[in-house]
Amino acid sequence: MSRFVAVTAVRDFEGRVRQAIAGALHGELQTLNPEVLSGGPDDVFKQLNGAPPEVLILGPGVTAEAALKLATVFDLQYPEISLLLVAEPSPDLVLKAMHSGIRDVVTPEIEVNDLRVLLERACLAAASRRRGMGPAAEPDQDRGRVIAVMSPKGGVGKTTVATNLAIGLGKVAPMSVVLVDLDLQFGDVASGLQLEPEHSITEAVHGAASQDSMVLKAFLTVHPAGIYALCAPRTPSESDYITADHVSRLLNQLASEFKYVVVDTAPGLGEHVLATLELATDGVWVCGMDVPSVRGLRKCFTVLKELQLLPQGRHTVLNFADRKSGLSVQDVEATIGVPIDAVVPRSRTLPYSTNRGIPVLQSTSRDSATKGLKKLVDRFDPQWVSSNHNKLHRRVVVS
Ligand SMILES: Nc1ncnc2c1ncn2[C@@H]1O[C@H](COP(=O)(O)OP(=O)(O)O)[C@@H](O)[C@H]1O
Ligand SMILES: [Mg+2]
Repeated sequence: MSRFVAVTAVRDFEGRVRQAIAGALHGELQTLNPEVLSGGPDDVFKQLNGAPPEVLILGPGVTAEAALKLATVFDLQYPEISLLLVAEPSPDLVLKAMHSGIRDVVTPEIEVNDLRVLLERACLAAASRRRGMGPAAEPDQDRGRVIAVMSPKGGVGKTTVATNLAIGLGKVAPMSVVLVDLDLQFGDVASGLQLEPEHSITEAVHGAASQDSMVLKAFLTVHPAGIYALCAPRTPSESDYITADHVSRLLNQLASEFKYVVVDTAPGLGEHVLATLELATDGVWVCGMDVPSVRGLRKCFTVLKELQLLPQGRHTVLNFADRKSGLSVQDVEATIGVPIDAVVPRSRTLPYSTNRGIPVLQSTSRDSATKGLKKLVDRFDPQWVSSNHNKLHRRVVVS
């Protein structure tokens, strides 16, 4: 949906914009007080509830200098947003506006019909710029695997699996693994790996990093085990400013730089998860050994099959496996309709390792939970796969 934001206190102009949009264009108008011009894009976004706008209208009734200054920053950091300046278009102002990346300078007296045409064009321009920056823009044959760690439910071990998978793959491909925390509101990759990130995914998807993979790399946090991590935002509300498009672009950039991009996700099938699945080469499906978890995964498979969003590589992990749970591996397989590839028993070492911030695959632990996680890692190790192909689909047991 198109979204329009006007920075103006002139009610008559605001009314004309509303008329221009009504019935002809998708989306709604939000008006901000001109005071906002003294801040930067982040101050603007703070006042908007939701995703960034497609069209930002500056004026009428704002000082040209302040409007041009803000426009310059927007143009650099958010080139996909179309900017319009509403002011008497003197040749001098038009030239300056052009240099600030403003699309059009419009007289405050503009009529509703002309305004409508202008806004429509501004929307189209915004859409085509977004497309230009999106997945199709990066034709790259030599791309890494994007591994989405998924589950419809929380607390089933996604983060445990994702952090251990990344650490395990770090031994297969040192400095070629990045773990992305897409549990944007309550991500705990940083604490699970004992990291204190200077930057988060927020900086990675906005501004220069989104245009340049070298800048993006500077926003990643290095873990002593030889992997990179991109941690979740510091506050849950920051996730409002991270769109599905941001996620697609980010994962595309990372896949062109790293052999393995491991993505820890939030429970369920939110827009960020769907954007991840669109690009994922592999899905790691984590399932608890309880009926709600198993049924949830079956529904999840059904929906994703319909949407044609099931990644090609499928890896199922039965976590919290316990012979006393009243379910067997065969029960689980029969319900979800696919074989289980790795079993991670309920184990005391895992909560202990989560609390210490040291994944079991980084430590010397040799218990059966560690073995189960190692087995998952092996599935992504080309050398292991080529020499153990017969073991890939060997039946698993709960000990
Ligand atoms: N197999 C297991 N046995 C015991 N505790 C586990 C097991 N797997 C995960 N845990 C613990 O359960 C808690 C939730 O796991 P987590 O990986 O954060 O789940 P999610 O990311 O799906 O919400 C963590 O404290 C973790 O250490
Ligand atoms: Mg988690």
